[in-house]
Amino acid sequence: MDYNELIIIAENAKANAYAPYSRFRVGAAVLAENGEVFSGANIENSTYGATNCAERTAVFNAISKGAKKVKAVAIISDSEDYIYPCGICRQVIYEFSVEDTEIICCDKNKNYKVYSMKELLPYAFKLDIKEEE
Ligand code: THU
Repeated sequence: MDYNELIIIAENAKANAYAPYSRFRVGAAVLAENGEVFSGANIENSTYGATNCAERTAVFNAISKGAKKVKAVAIISDSEDYIYPCGICRQVIYEFSVEDTEIICCDKNKNYKVYSMKELLPYAFKLDIKEEE
């Protein structure tokens, strides 16, 4: 799948953001290794701390529907600035990443910069597990 298509899916997901506190709407789209695409938006909470970022919503959506590995994640907001995943989301994406997983960081006009997972989370923490777990 072309990254431009993935970005449009992320942008469409942004429409369902629940962000009444920050008013900062974010959408994300995950390209799974099997070619399937899953999306998500940020979902805020009045406790603030229970807020879920768009990237995690999209990854959890993918994994809960049977995807095993994440090839790429596109992220977009309404900001003129490029958006980058927070530290928690980097760790969550890393959990399901492959050797060449890429993160596509967009500005609101769908200009994008591509980063490898390794660039965004070097020396990441992972426990060794059997693949089936
Ligand atoms: N947010 C995301 O959804 N993804 C990011 O990469 C950064 C931040 C959300 C969390 C919160 O709902 C709002 O943006 C402001 O932090």
